[in-house]
Amino acid sequence: MFEAKNSLKESALSLIDGEPNLVANLANLSSLLFHSTPNLNWLGFYLWDEKSQELVVGPFQGKPACVRIKPHRGVCGLTYSSQKAQLVNDVSLFNDHIACDADSKSELVVPIVKNGKCLGVLDLDSPTKDRFTAEDLKVMQEIADFIAIRLF
Ligand code: SME
Repeated sequence: MFEAKNSLKESALSLIDGEPNLVANLANLSSLLFHSTPNLNWLGFYLWDEKSQELVVGPFQGKPACVRIKPHRGVCGLTYSSQKAQLVNDVSLFNDHIACDADSKSELVVPIVKNGKCLGVLDLDSPTKDRFTAEDLKVMQEIADFIAIRLF
């Protein structure tokens, strides 16, 4: 698992190496993470928008998604507000889950935090219940931490 994690990080590093554009980097990272993580129907970023005080969808892979999420709504909003990763084994049991894609059955959302401020979240959806493990959470949080350091 460590090897896979390290090679994922190395691939992520080489993808963004020398490129300063945030959208380009998040777009390529969403593709890398989506295609190297089995059994997902959606993976992408929601970024905090200071002006509207909402999360706004950023680069992603999957079907079109909800554009704006208020900070107290859904799994993404809870992740943003609490700055804590949320692993939801069965979205039908999560009060206030926002169903952007009816295929989604379980969800993992990790915060992107820099200097104590949440800048956005990385959201993964699976068509299978109980898809995500504590190890997945750890790996994705490390990727999100790496994104906070390298891209913001
Ligand atoms: N399910 C999320 C909304 C975003 S979509 O999954 C892409 C939520 O409850 O916040």
